Amino acid sequence: MRTPLMAGNWKMNKTVDEAVAMVKELKDLVADAKDVNVAICAPAVDLYAMNEVVADTNIDLGAQNMYYKESGAYTAELSPAMVKSVGCKYVIIGHSERREIFGETDELLNLKLKTAFANDITPILCIGEKLAEREAGVHFDRVKFQLAADLSGIEAADVKDMVLAYEPLWAIGTGKTATPEQAEEIIAFIRETVKEMYDAETAEAVIIQYGGSVKPQNVKEIMAQPNIDGALVGGASLEAESFSKIVNFK
Ligand code: G3P
Repeated sequence: MRTPLMAGNWKMNKTVDEAVAMVKELKDLVADAKDVNVAICAPAVDLYAMNEVVADTNIDLGAQNMYYKESGAYTAELSPAMVKSVGCKYVIIGHSERREIFGETDELLNLKLKTAFANDITPILCIGEKLAEREAGVHFDRVKFQLAADLSGIEAADVKDMVLAYEPLWAIGTGKTATPEQAEEIIAFIRETVKEMYDAETAEAVIIQYGGSVKPQNVKEIMAQPNIDGALVGGASLEAESFSKIVNFK
């Protein structure tokens, strides 16, 4: 049985004071959450202070990005050791905003994933198609291509422990959610693709989230789908009350 992961992706939101205030409020609201893992992927500058607040709670932390080198002259980048030093269990790799706005390629993401695994950080790899690709009916090909390129050379044992997040670009921050059936259809396809690339055991174990305008109002029907193992939540993770409702969806 897979334990769902509800992860907030705060993107470029919240100063240190705001971040600390929110996790202080959130920790009590999600303290009784059962059979679900909870994480907040916060801006790098917030993580150190947040780590003190979430110690001894059921909230894990994640970074939103990380470089693939261990250290050195890479101005403004974060190393795996830095990410771990502020208590992060997770790191988001390949969010569509990194791919689209900052030009991150599948080759680079593949290197980042390998570095995450080498440092025992659980990557949340984001994949998903653009609106034009969905309309042209090539969305299945798109995610298959991303999986093949991003996971190239990565072992089944690592894939088993990672998180995949299917986020169709047309549903991000638009208020437009994929229907639960659309999300289930492609997430089932992603699981089948992992089976083809690896084996049934790996496909059964890998956590696959849906992301794109998840809110307290739609989380229940999304989570009712058999292949969907949680959500990567942007806008609705910025308030403790709304994010806690998503965590406590049952
Ligand atoms: O990574 C989360 C994401 O991109 C979805 O954002 O605001 O549509 O929930 P949002």
